[in-house]
Amino acid sequence: MQNLLPITVPEHVAIIMDGNGRWANARGLPRTMGHRKGVEAVRDAVKTAAEAGVRYLTLFAFSSENWNRPQAEVTDLMGLLKAFIRRDLADLHRENVRIRIIGERSNLRGDILPLLIEAEETTSGNTGITLVIAFNYGARDELTRAMRRLATEVAQGRLAPEDITPERIAASLDTAGIPDPDLILRTSGEERLSNFLLWQGAYSELLFVPELWPDFTRETFLSALEKFACRERRFGGLAQPTLAVGS
Ligand code: IPE
Ligand code: IPE
Ligand code: MG
Repeated sequence: MQNLLPITVPEHVAIIMDGNGRWANARGLPRTMGHRKGVEAVRDAVKTAAEAGVRYLTLFAFSSENWNRPQAEVTDLMGLLKAFIRRDLADLHRENVRIRIIGERSNLRGDILPLLIEAEETTSGNTGITLVIAFNYGARDELTRAMRRLATEVAQGRLAPEDITPERIAASLDTAGIPDPDLILRTSGEERLSNFLLWQGAYSELLFVPELWPDFTRETFLSALEKFACRERRFGGLAQPTLAVGS
């Protein structure tokens, strides 16, 4: 790939795609136009991540708290996800992208759930980048659902309390089998997690960039990957000592 420096590429990048509404407001457009433009940025981000060698790309598309928005905007966002899957699934499949959906499914209405399942099933055998779409996702909701399942197993005598380990909790989350994000990136200048991957992000590098999501280009993404490569990760230990010359 051109322009890409030989850098440490994160295995898993998770993005809080924020700023669609402000992008539209700044142009005197309705918020929905920002969301529409945001879908184009999604397409580019998947391509860039795949080309750069990222193995997992998680995109926060709709949070469990986004139901608090006006009904028309919620309907619009649901419609956009459906349109994205209908229009892009064949292309993504051809590009060997595997799709996973995380988030609560039980309160999704209409044809959205069958579409999400179709996207996962169609691409389940693919071996390229995994695109994880966080839809109707909230970390507290995800953890609550997992805790309830574990509590039920304990109550039924199928699991001892001491069998509840960090590994078992991780395996009970929607992200089971997906490595923790190395990098959590948020656009639009906001510096908060907004209930995104609270367990999985325990040791993620955080990067907040000023660009609004519809303005998030390949170049912005590549420069974020370069910034990540300059970070020193410690995981509670000490920095790797640099080998002395001749040692
Ligand atoms: C991100 O853009 C998209 C979703 C949260 C679904 P916003 O809609 O939050 O845009 P701002 O933050 O209002 O600019
Ligand atoms: C987070 O953005 C959710 C998504 C990007 C889908 P929000 O715009 O909903 O977050 P807050 O409300 O500013 O924290
Ligand atoms: Mg926002």
